[in-house]
Amino acid sequence: MLNSFPADSPPLVDSAQFLVIGSGVAGLYTALELSKTARVILLTKSSIQQSNTYYAQGGIASALGVGDSPEFHYQDTLVAGAGLCNLAAVKALVSEGLDRVRHLIELGVPFDQKQGELSFTREAAHSHRRILHAHGDATGRAISETLISQVQHGNITIYEEQFALALVTQDGVCHGVVTIQQGKLNLFLASAVILCTGGLGQIFEKTTNPPVATGDGMILAYQAGAVLTDLEFVQFHPTALCLPPAPPFLISESVRGEGAILINSIGERFMPGYHELAELAPRDIVARAIFTEMHRTGSSCAYLDLSKMTPELIKQRFPNIYGTCLQYGLDIISDPIPVAPAAHYMMGGVMTDLWGRTSVPGLYAAGEAAATGVHGANRLASNSLLEGLVFGGRIADFLKNRPETSLTTDNLTIHYPQIKIEYEQWPHQLTSLRQVTTEFLGIIRDETGLKEAEKRLSLEPLSKSGFQLDPAFFEVQSMIQLAGLIARASLIRTESRGAHFRSDYPDASSTWQKHIQFQNQKTEVLST
Ligand code: SIN
Repeated sequence: MLNSFPADSPPLVDSAQFLVIGSGVAGLYTALELSKTARVILLTKSSIQQSNTYYAQGGIASALGVGDSPEFHYQDTLVAGAGLCNLAAVKALVSEGLDRVRHLIELGVPFDQKQGELSFTREAAHSHRRILHAHGDATGRAISETLISQVQHGNITIYEEQFALALVTQDGVCHGVVTIQQGKLNLFLASAVILCTGGLGQIFEKTTNPPVATGDGMILAYQAGAVLTDLEFVQFHPTALCLPPAPPFLISESVRGEGAILINSIGERFMPGYHELAELAPRDIVARAIFTEMHRTGSSCAYLDLSKMTPELIKQRFPNIYGTCLQYGLDIISDPIPVAPAAHYMMGGVMTDLWGRTSVPGLYAAGEAAATGVHGANRLASNSLLEGLVFGGRIADFLKNRPETSLTTDNLTIHYPQIKIEYEQWPHQLTSLRQVTTEFLGIIRDETGLKEAEKRLSLEPLSKSGFQLDPAFFEVQSMIQLAGLIARASLIRTESRGAHFRSDYPDASSTWQKHIQFQNQKTEVLST
């Protein structure tokens, strides 16, 4: 057991011009692009395959189809974002996204085709069929595998199983990270550090995210003084498998895009009563409608009915969903799929500008860890892989050809986390965290619940406590801190907008076209 972090710097393991943390689409693509001009260190907390990207099903939105255009994609993204998108960021996303997707094709991503042409599916709130997919419903895996094969080259050194514990600054500029690997601290230095550490679904009891999605990168950046923003906007995917003991496996929105309908536990189709686009209404509306129907009918789930789809279409378009459900004893060709909403995506994160720069010099962020402004209050389906590519690519464009900084181990400040929970208590703390988030920070929130959540999640640093260099312990600490910030932001935003719904303030308010920001324990509300 340790009682404090060592005063001396840990041993330097490696240094390079660029250091990328995370191996989802943003991390892999940024590393690949940066490696064209300089040596890159790529750190991953688990194996390189473990990321939200790897499990993405539906696909990647891109206005490459006949009759579609970036302008339509732009408008759809703004409508979903409910007044909080950064217009310049969305413009960059939809226009530069076209070439980034073409680049993925050149790199070998096997997007599905029909009669020799790219095949596009539809997802909620898209005015056109513009979602590219691969291997039916295993798009993320296809993109990850392609990029992973591309990053295996001499200019990129990959270190797996390195848990990022603390960012390192020198004269106020971010120059590295301290990691934990097998109970030991390591130091990595670089001229620029790019955080691509992904989302935080694991703070909730039910999530479509893999175990690595614990939001560590956001808290790392916050601890080093970066601004976090838009944390009240957590997206719940409407349809995760609800078949205990099966995990809440994602049932892609494109299943509805291909014609499946939602029915409640008493066999009624309900979505036309909630929105004119019915099953293809924006994701937050579908998630709340399912949640409401579950309560109204006293059921733990609703059902996706695929009976209008032929068995051939189901097997060809959704082999992954078909096979996974079968593994849990459910044949989706003959039986409806029990589904319920689950935490899926964080719109907020580490605030960046259009070039991925955070408020800490030398620190950049891309992918789900970043808040670039493209998603506003609610992300349009299948815009996240695109965002990782476009803004990862922008960071690389910005940093390429910059002169190399000489790196030394002198005068380093290591932004270690404060110890706020007893080491032995972390498994219990994780369980109660998830109870609090599920009860009070879910799809429908109110003041009483949010105040209770804030109270239960506010932790003061402990004056005396032993701890071990165990990633699980630090993950839980970060998760509690992040959930506390989500509660605070949700309490401050006294309206409903996008993915943030308050039953005590059910309408959007024009006075709330603002962003809530946290920095160095301070809160600010800033107009767009
Ligand atoms: C899905 O396939 O439904 C998920 C797509 C996304 O979250 O963008």
